[in-house]
Order: sequence, then structure tokens, then C-alpha cells
Amino acid sequence: MSDLRQALKDNAEAVNKMMDSLIPKADGGQGKLFEAMRYAATSGGKRMRPFLVVQSTGLFGLTHQTALRTAAAVEFIHAYSLVHDDLPAMDNSYLRRGKPTTHVQYGEAVAILVGDALLTLAFEVINDFDTHPDPVVRANLVTALAQAAGARGMVGGQMLDIQSSGNELSMAEIVRLQRLKTGELFSFCCEAGAILAKTPGRARQSLSSYAHDLGLAFQITDDLLDAAGSTAETGKSVRQDAENNKPNFVTLLGVERAKSQAQILAQQAVSHLDQFDSRADLLRELAQYAVDRKF
Ligand code: IPE
Ligand code: IPE
Ligand code: MG
Ligand code: MG
Ligand code: MG
Repeated sequence: MSDLRQALKDNAEAVNKMMDSLIPKADGGQGKLFEAMRYAATSGGKRMRPFLVVQSTGLFGLTHQTALRTAAAVEFIHAYSLVHDDLPAMDNSYLRRGKPTTHVQYGEAVAILVGDALLTLAFEVINDFDTHPDPVVRANLVTALAQAAGARGMVGGQMLDIQSSGNELSMAEIVRLQRLKTGELFSFCCEAGAILAKTPGRARQSLSSYAHDLGLAFQITDDLLDAAGSTAETGKSVRQDAENNKPNFVTLLGVERAKSQAQILAQQAVSHLDQFDSRADLLRELAQYAVDRKF
């Protein structure tokens, strides 16, 4: 196994353990909700966003606990977004991470609550003393995460995505949609280390540019896998975008041009890391993984 794949695997295990420890266990009648939260958040998936958090915080010498708690919070938000994205009212998907989607397994009402609970838990975790001792730093992190996840970030992107159904979008419009839907959370992940280490300026800007290009390359690949991948490999329903008449990079550019665009973006992402030493090597390798991946 390559160093990157081993690192991704180790990271996924550590983040899963952290998430499991943060989801409540005691049952005062809400046991089913806690169980469904674990179902949605702690198994399957690549844990790319937590990996970005851990690697970028690693550039600034932060503690493992700070990195892992921040990583878990981001993954809670990502998991919530997937649970809601899969609902019948949205993409109506039945398979996710190789398992029935949360609403198929637990019913729609529970799936909605799982999303609500994971989103809220993320902010509880970020704002805890154990994540960072300085309340001002925690407040800055809360604001950045709220902006990335909210109406001007991921949720806003989901709104544009819903509205795009059946429409022809220009390249610029698709880039904006994807940037919000996927890119803003990627940017948060890459900038979290700089926020936690109180290091504004050039390092943060470079990581933001890296995240921008990586996020687009990642999303183009997601669109390619939806159009041409298999359920067996991706572990999720495919051909969803065509079924829902969603315009994306593949419908606009075609498979071959979308692939080469993703490749160009991955290389461009790496070029933004020039100021960092070998501690950024896994982030460099990750850019290629983001486009080569089969799931
Ligand atoms: C899927 O994200 C949804 C998108 C924003 C493209 P991932 O491809 O990271 O899904 P998991 O976490 O590995 O399941
Ligand atoms: C989902 O995008 C993005 C978010 C959940 C914010 P998609 O609808 O393309 O994701 P998949 O393909 O279902 O994983
Ligand atoms: Mg969707
Ligand atoms: Mg979907
Ligand atoms: Mg998709």
C-alpha cells in the first residue's frame, strides 16, 4: 500500500474512533437516534475532509487532539449533508457508502433528525475547551465553519443544485454551484490549521487556493463517477445526475474533457503548496488521488 493510502486508512480509523466517542451513548429514550447517527457517520466513506484537516493542522504543529476533534466536527457536517442529500425530497438515493441510505434504514423522519443532530453536534465539539483552549480561536473556527456550511456555502450550493435541475448552466455557473456545494467545506478543512494556529496571511491564502482547485477537481471526479462509474465501486447510487437532469462538468464538457480538466486542476492545486516543506507531501499526493479515485 502506498504511503498515502496507508495514511488515509490510519486517519479514517482515528477519526471514526473520535466520532464514535463524541456521539452520545446513554439512552434516555433517544437510543434510536444515537444509533442512526453512528450509522450515518462512522462507517464507510473516504474521510477526505478529516484528512485535509489533519494534514493542514500538521503544518502548524497543533496537537493531535485539536486536529482530530476538528476533523470529526467537519465529518459530522459532511455526513449530515449526505443524509439530507439522499432524502426523497432531494436526490432520492437508496445506497450510500455501500449501505442503505439512512432514511431507507431508519425512515425519513429519523433521517431528518440525524442530520439536525450531527450538524448541531459539530458546533458543540468545535466550541469545546478540549478542541482549543483559547475561546477567541474557537469563536473564529465556529464562524468559519458556519460560513462554509451555511446558506452562503454548502447549503447555498445545494439550493443552486436543486434549482439547476432541467436547466442549461454556463461553465461559470457550474463552477460557482460546485464551489459552494463542495468547495467551501474543503476550504474550511484546509484553512482550519491556520485559524487554529492564528496564522493569517500567506500560508492561509495558499491553502485556500489549494483547496479551491482540489475541491473542483474532486467534484468533477464525483460527476464523472456518477456518469460512468459503478455502484459496486462507488458504494452509492449512480446516474443520479442524469436521472435528475442535473447539469454538471460532465454534461457540459463530456467525459474526456472533464477528465483532463480535473487533471489540470489537480496539478494546479499542488503548485499552491510550494512554500511548504515535505510536511505537505501527503497533501500533494492527495490531489492526484482526488482525480484517480474510483469511489
Ligand atoms: C460525496 O462526498 C459528496 C460530494 C460532495 C461530492 P465524498 O465522495 O467525500 O463521500 P464519502 O465521504 O467518501 O462517502
Ligand atoms: C452532494 O452532492 C453535496 C452535498 C451533500 C453537500 P451530490 O449529490 O453530487 O453527492 P453524491 O453524488 O450524492 O454523493
Ligand atoms: Mg445532490
Ligand atoms: Mg446526491
Ligand atoms: Mg454526485
